[in-house]
Order: sequence, then structure tokens, then C-alpha cells
Amino acid sequence: MILVTGAAGKTGQAVIRALASRGGAVRALVHKPEQIEPLHRLGAQEVVVGDMLSQVAFEQATRGIESVYHICPNVDPYETVIGAFAIQAARHAGVEHFVYHSVLHPQTENMPHHWKKMGVEELLLESGLGFTILQPTTYMQNVLA
Ligand SMILES: NC(=O)c1ccc[n+]([C@@H]2O[C@H](COP(=O)([O-])OP(=O)(O)OC[C@H]3O[C@@H](n4cnc5c(N)ncnc54)[C@H](OP(=O)(O)O)[C@@H]3O)[C@@H](O)[C@H]2O)c1
Repeated sequence: MILVTGAAGKTGQAVIRALASRGGAVRALVHKPEQIEPLHRLGAQEVVVGDMLSQVAFEQATRGIESVYHICPNVDPYETVIGAFAIQAARHAGVEHFVYHSVLHPQTENMPHHWKKMGVEELLLESGLGFTILQPTTYMQNVLA
């Protein structure tokens, strides 16, 4: 089973739709109980509610999980802390592969939300986990809005 964090957000919903359409078994981590039902409808087999600022929430969400697709809330000041929690929980749970939804040019120090992702990438490099780091650029959806 694949854990998707930030599951109810724009990116999370797109990832879950794509995984479900390929037969992937998904557990979605959401922030609020009212997000449970819509994500089931989208194709998530399991939906759990938790705060990503809680290490305990990550430990519970990763139980029995094979892969993690980690999406941090957008422009979150605690992205590095959240990333560390996610990586630590994945290691404890024996996760085989960790996908980190980063950003293009995370090495840009004067953009704090990019620079924090650089810190998470570094933690992942040192974690011993199998991993994939994705570095998407600005979404076309931002322009459409
Ligand atoms: N947008 C872009 O162009 C772009 C480009 C490249 C990379 N990215 C990256 O993609 C990632 C996701 O972006 P997005 O636009 O999809 O984000 P988003 O729509 O804001 O989704 C974030 C989700 O995380 C939830 N959340 C917030 N705080 C939480 C907490 N403490 N615990 C658990 N869940 C929490 C939010 O729930 P609530 O709304 O209920 O709080 C929301 O469902 C970000 O890391 C961003 O940097 C975005």
C-alpha cells in the first residue's frame, strides 16, 4: 500500500487519481474528517486523519505501508520538520521506497520554501531509504486560476 500525504490538496488529489487509475492501493493522510469521504470517492482505499506536525500521526499513518509519496503543505514554515518526521516514520515502518514531492531549484536560498525542501532532500539522501525526488516547476493550474 502507498501512503500519500497532503492528500486532500491540489497535488494530492491528482496523485491519488493517477495511482487509483493504475490499480494502486492508496492510504491517504488528510488534515480534517470532512476530507475522508471525497478521497474515498477519488479512489483511496484507506483515509486517515492526522496532523503532519505530529510525529505520532506519521508513525500511525506509515504502519504496514510499502511506499510513501510525501507532499508537504504549500509554503509551510515547518517543511523541514515535517519532512524529518515523515522520513523517520518511514524508516521505522520499513518502507521500501519514499517519493518526495520537492520543487524545481530547491537550492535557491533566498526563497525559503525552496530552501526548506533542499533540507528535506538532504535528509532523504542520508536516510538509507530507497527514494525518488521529484522537482516540479510551477503548475499550469496556477496560471489558469
Ligand atoms: N503549486 C505549485 O505550482 C507547486 C509547484 C511545485 C511544487 N509544489 C509543491 O507541492 C506541494 C503541495 O502543493 P499543493 O498546492 O498541492 O498544496 P495544497 O493544495 O495547499 O495542499 C496541502 C494539503 O495539506 C493539508 N495540510 C495543511 N496543513 C496540514 C497539517 N499540519 N497536517 C496535515 N495536513 C495538512 C491541507 O489541508 P487543509 O487545506 O485542510 O489545511 C491540504 O489538503 C507543496 O509542497 C508545494 O511546494 C507546488
